Amino acid sequence: MVENIIEGMVDAVLVIDAEGRITLANTAASRITGYARDALPLMPVSQLLLDESSGIKTVVRRRIEDGDVLRREDAWLRAKDGTRIPVSVTASPVTDDKNILQGIVIVARDVRELRQLLADKEAEIVRRRSAEDELRTAKATIEDQLDQARSQLMTAERRATLGTLAGGVGHELRNIAQVQVASVDELARVLKSSENLEQAVREVLPDLERVGEHITAHGHRLLQLARPGPDRKDPIDLNDTVQDIVAMLRGAGKLRRLEVTLELASEPLIVTVNRTRIEQILVNLMVNAVDAIGDQRGTITMRTRLDALTSRVVCEVADSGCGIPPEQLDKIFLPFFTTKAEDRGTGLGLPVAREIVESYGGALVVQSVVGEGTTFTFSLPR
Ligand SMILES: Nc1ncnc2c1ncn2[C@@H]1O[C@H](COP(=O)(O)OP(=O)(O)OP(=O)(O)O)[C@@H](O)[C@H]1O
Ligand SMILES: [Mg+2]
Repeated sequence: MVENIIEGMVDAVLVIDAEGRITLANTAASRITGYARDALPLMPVSQLLLDESSGIKTVVRRRIEDGDVLRREDAWLRAKDGTRIPVSVTASPVTDDKNILQGIVIVARDVRELRQLLADKEAEIVRRRSAEDELRTAKATIEDQLDQARSQLMTAERRATLGTLAGGVGHELRNIAQVQVASVDELARVLKSSENLEQAVREVLPDLERVGEHITAHGHRLLQLARPGPDRKDPIDLNDTVQDIVAMLRGAGKLRRLEVTLELASEPLIVTVNRTRIEQILVNLMVNAVDAIGDQRGTITMRTRLDALTSRVVCEVADSGCGIPPEQLDKIFLPFFTTKAEDRGTGLGLPVAREIVESYGGALVVQSVVGEGTTFTFSLPR
């Protein structure tokens, strides 16, 4: 019965006598070592079992003489062909009734598979670590590239912004130059005719003065693009500005064939802003309205009011022009979006106007019906 159990074990079982000779070995022992079954009995165990330290036999003996059991010591079985097979050894003493050592039962477990498993696991861990390292390096490279791309983008964006802003200034200078050209033409015409020159000069002078102010202000803005600084702000009455701009555009001959109606708030609408920049908004919106009406007759209505609810100053520029198709409504504020001929429009009027309004914490919105007209409304905090 006991022999059957021993025989059936997958571990090598060696029973040795007190002299250290093998008296019994199971099939597993001969399978693992490669010795024939009948070659094992009587073989000194030291030929089969090796250990590194003081020799397992000494340890076994000492411990076992103390009645101890040896558990899971690392050792080797030397196979018939000389290879060392790593085993984990458990040994227990066999004693007679007088407690005299008769022999030792050694169970040696072949740990090659286990070791291989451990080695595989370790290799796997090393492989994973190096994969992680590679990933980390790749990530760092990607982050570097991203950083680079980001900074390139920022430079590009800054260039584009500068370009747009510079374009905006050029756009305003061109608008204002038209006023000057018209004023000079008017003076030249009056000079040639017999009309009252002094009166003509009186009419034209404020416009020319304003042209000068605008050119100075825009020159200043160009300088600011290179070296941004604070914008000069003063309290102004929006009603005055609207009236001045309408007069200026009329003087420049921009409002011929058009009916311009002013519906201005009865009280002064004071806002603290850079006056030239507000004039810029009004010129852009009015020139757009004139273009939208084209050669037909039409009306432009300028309304101002104080919004009691938000305590903001509001200005509307409404025209009876062609209107804007709904699919274009979200595009018109993009820089360089224009439906006009190349020599007529650059697509900067509205983005510049919106930029100015928003820089004061206000808003510029549009409402339009194709064939009926368009209303641009901007508000400014007081
Ligand atoms: N009052 C309006 N009525 C109809 N369409 C308008 C009106 N205002 C603007 N638009 C449309 O919005 C587009 C963009 O206007 P924006 O003022 O930005 O540029 P632009 O007038 O085309 O050129 P720029 O003002 O630079 O000379 C116009 O081309 C036009 O299609
Ligand atoms: Mg425009």
